[in-house]
Amino acid sequence: MSESKYIFADSQHSQEIERLQTLETVFDSASRKQILATGITQGWRCLEVGAGAGSIIRWMAEIVGEDGKVIAVDLDTQFIANIELPNVEVLKADIRHVPLERHSFDLIHARHVLIHIPNFQVALSQMLDSLKPGGWIVVEEPDISAAKAVFGNEAVCQSVNRVNQASLQMFANRGIDYALGVKLPAIFQKLGLQLLSIENDTPLSQGGSGIAKVMKMSTVQLADKYVATGKATHQDIEQYCLFAENTNAWAIYPPTVRVTARTTRAAASCQ
Ligand SMILES: C[S@@+](CC[C@H](N)C(=O)[O-])C[C@H]1O[C@@H](n2cnc3c(N)ncnc32)[C@H](O)[C@@H]1O
Repeated sequence: MSESKYIFADSQHSQEIERLQTLETVFDSASRKQILATGITQGWRCLEVGAGAGSIIRWMAEIVGEDGKVIAVDLDTQFIANIELPNVEVLKADIRHVPLERHSFDLIHARHVLIHIPNFQVALSQMLDSLKPGGWIVVEEPDISAAKAVFGNEAVCQSVNRVNQASLQMFANRGIDYALGVKLPAIFQKLGLQLLSIENDTPLSQGGSGIAKVMKMSTVQLADKYVATGKATHQDIEQYCLFAENTNAWAIYPPTVRVTARTTRAAASCQ
């Protein structure tokens, strides 16, 4: 089942923690804003799916206080196993298969997680089954198909776009919908959820920006997988990395679509 293994599963510890923490630096502020808009408060039970390096767990734990609870589920808990907070429980598990109490959470949050799961519908069903009636779900996923070089040396831009194509091919080979982010509102609507907020950031950014750094780190770690698609070479990867550092080079990096919704009925199941 190597094709469905999480793409960063074999990454070096030091490289991966740095990538996850950079991701938090770039995205936490927008995520917190979305989560705060749900009215999260003391006593809430929250589920953090695919917690990564854990900044959202710690932050939510502070808000829900000692009467609340944050349960974090991740395939890989090496970066969060050391969280010793009385109201946090860390489960090392696949969100598709972990037993979760039905209708037990006030809020579920996932960021850049479903994009890594080929049959994400199974994960989403699990998540929705465990939401209380009227509970909140905040999901943030990228639209990788939107990435493109915008301004820079022409040959380098071509390399960057070949790397972008390789990334799409890698996801497609794994049966993953790389444009999942932009489809989230329609998916939630079909599930009968009440859509409350939809945000699509489109990071038209220069090299050296936070998102450019995250994308460079991901590209370095996934270089062999990209080259294996036949769509890009190691030289293209080198050019991508230089482009992502160059403050005069501009690109649309993959946007993140943030959707906040609420259950209006006991449970929705994903078809
Ligand atoms: C790109 S990272 C995002 C981490 C964090 N949500 C953030 O945005 O900072 C994806 C996370 O999802 C986890 N993950 C991937 N597939 C999963 C699955 N099937 N079940 C649970 N966790 C999963 C990975 O181990 C990783 O921690």
